[in-house]
Amino acid sequence: MADGPTVGFSAFSLPSSGVLVVFCDDALRLGTVTRGLLGPAAALVARAAAADRFKGKSGSSLDLVAPADLKAGRLVVIGCGKPGDMKRKDFVKLGGIAMGKIPAVATSATIVAELPNKAMSAEQACDLALGVRLRGYRFDRYKTKRKEDEEKPTAVKVDIGVADAPRTRSAWTAKGGLADSVLLARDLINEPANVLYPAEFARRASALRRLGVAVDVLDVPAMKKLGMNALLGVGQGSVHESRTVVMRWNGGKKDASPIAFIGKGVCFDTGGISIKPAAGMEDMKGDMAGAACVVGLMQALAARKAKVNAIGAIGLVENMPDGNAQRPGDIVKTMSGQTIEIINTDAEGRLVLADVLHHINTKYKPKFMIDLATLTGAIMVALGQEYAGMFANDDKLADRLVKAGQATGERVWRMPLGPEYDKMIDSRFADMKNTGGRWGGSITAAQLLARFVGKTPWAHLDIAGTALGSPQTDINKSWSSGWGVRLLNQLVEDHYER
Ligand code: BES
Ligand code: MN
Ligand code: ZN
Repeated sequence: MADGPTVGFSAFSLPSSGVLVVFCDDALRLGTVTRGLLGPAAALVARAAAADRFKGKSGSSLDLVAPADLKAGRLVVIGCGKPGDMKRKDFVKLGGIAMGKIPAVATSATIVAELPNKAMSAEQACDLALGVRLRGYRFDRYKTKRKEDEEKPTAVKVDIGVADAPRTRSAWTAKGGLADSVLLARDLINEPANVLYPAEFARRASALRRLGVAVDVLDVPAMKKLGMNALLGVGQGSVHESRTVVMRWNGGKKDASPIAFIGKGVCFDTGGISIKPAAGMEDMKGDMAGAACVVGLMQALAARKAKVNAIGAIGLVENMPDGNAQRPGDIVKTMSGQTIEIINTDAEGRLVLADVLHHINTKYKPKFMIDLATLTGAIMVALGQEYAGMFANDDKLADRLVKAGQATGERVWRMPLGPEYDKMIDSRFADMKNTGGRWGGSITAAQLLARFVGKTPWAHLDIAGTALGSPQTDINKSWSSGWGVRLLNQLVEDHYER
């Protein structure tokens, strides 16, 4: 089946065939270059707009098939409302909308990257192209058949007309890498768990070596030696062995301490002995979305040769019921020495993260740690699928994440931590228990993590709502969103590069 769109940039010009996409504002004004390119067809736009009551409202569009005076087979005019108000994320969205107007069977399309008031900058055109790539993504590698009336989707070539093609192309080397990285994360999340189990995930993460990322894979004996018994306890009921993968990108100053990203990589979460109900359990192939985001981010940083030292660490396990599986009541000794009583084997993500956070914190002494995890159903009850829940022990880091969220549209909402919540996970038999009762489930999960980060600035992102079963948006039609790659790339770019 076809791959998604490929994008390229060239100087403004009219295509000799295919789909032509142009932009107008809410007074139906076209840019100067666009008007020049359309020539007499510009009058056609005015007539069609009147006939269709198209007003150029942001996100609306007008479709002209076989327009007279143009060689293009289709002209699409997309409204961008008041172009003066457009922010970075709006250009990404506009690219998504444009891609959405290109029929699945088209082979070529041209987008004129000009707003009614001025040509898009190289950065803006790249954001537009990013939106095209994100919208064009589909995961159909396991579909071998088509319905009779379905035409084969094509790998459309999208040419974006820009004012300064060489500058835009060079800006795209970084932005195109980001697009690839979001799609890599989506691919990993969409893969079924019979294909993507811990060792296979580790193998795919190891492919980052080709970009100059150092990748260490810890197998079960290596983790036993380190004492990562909380992580190993989760995986002990599976025939697939657990792994921890540590990726290092050293683009910063030689001795500068790194920043660190840690991902929950539960390749499948049945709940274990505390088994989940059958309905919807297939979604738990995506319980490694945090880890997928970390791999995507490391690829994005390496692809643009980010001037930062960054660590990405992922704990990879499969949570299965089995004769050898962990039981409720079991007590495990974590790598930090603290003990955890298992109340519910379905609260497994925090056990995996407890050991990986401690390992990264003590071995690499990072400037900060950010973990990402599809950790609790409760975060969806609280925030739906629009915001990820953020828990942090550091206001500066929290504020920076909020800002990066607003810039990229991958938004986070800060949730509370505190001693009253912390004592809810005190245990009768061990230092703590892995669940805190019925109320505040996302918070008590975060409190457990907080016990493993020491004094290091830390933020935890609960992405159960934002990463999986994504609502259809202008930039994503897939089940997985790849949420977090753009957010964290933005955070690094804004604050942590020398
Ligand atoms: N992976 C789940 C959380 C989840 C649920 C992610 C739905 C995405 C969609 C996690 O491991 C889990 O099972 N959490 C339990 C915790 C409970 C047992 C304390 C939950 O949320 O119910
Ligand atoms: Mn679970
Ligand atoms: Zn889980």
